Amino acid sequence: MLQQPDATLYEGKAKILYATTDPKVVIQEFKDDLTAFNAQKKGTFFGKGAINCQISATLFRLLAEKGVPVHFRSLDSPRRMVIDRLEMVPLEVVVRNRVAGSLTKRLGIPEGEELSFPVIEWYYKRDDLGDPMVNRDHIRILKLASDAVLDEIRTLALRTNEILLPFYRERGLILVDMKLEFGWNSSGSLVLGDEIDGDTSRLWDAGTGEKLDKDRFRMDLGSVKEGYEKIYERVVGHAVES
Ligand code: TMP
Repeated sequence: MLQQPDATLYEGKAKILYATTDPKVVIQEFKDDLTAFNAQKKGTFFGKGAINCQISATLFRLLAEKGVPVHFRSLDSPRRMVIDRLEMVPLEVVVRNRVAGSLTKRLGIPEGEELSFPVIEWYYKRDDLGDPMVNRDHIRILKLASDAVLDEIRTLALRTNEILLPFYRERGLILVDMKLEFGWNSSGSLVLGDEIDGDTSRLWDAGTGEKLDKDRFRMDLGSVKEGYEKIYERVVGHAVES
């Protein structure tokens, strides 16, 4: 895939999107940067982009095989993937299997408690507002997505969770929660986009309960790189080559 010169479409906190010669296709590059709390906390480690890119590629391939429409097309390099160009729905969709993070504070339930069914939450993607949690009425008022589209996203998010839960379980990982994003591709289909990895999911070691994801960075638990490498090893199936 030929990349056009000087063709940066968008640069976010953890990824850069580049245009290609095909208007339907873009390249998503994963950066080594880590941010938390709306980028008030910043960090970086060499190789983080490649680790997350390959974890995401593995999971997108699995989901595509199981019939979930995804933006992923191929890996272009260890930290770049070729994807469908999407028009994003400005919502973050959080799926939770256990209580952690903001839900601990919101409901006053101890961290780690299993939820009797997967809980879905919607967050409005607006950095200047701090990505607030919104409900269906808020989404209607803001005209972010129709009720039919929300239903479709909900179904795809739950299906994604249903596929990933056993995949992780078989590899000794607990999927506590994750954040998903969706968008429309050039054919007008709603597809799963963005990334799925330790930046956007909470993953705990099933044996020890150890947190392996970005919470290590958020909570200053140390060994952030080692946590990401463990996720990589379990998901991709071999150790990170150094
Ligand atoms: P939370 O418990 O902080 O609301 O996070 C829920 C999940 O969403 C967790 O897996 C981390 C992920 N997440 C993001 O990917 N981006 C964000 O900006 C936030 C706040 C959470």
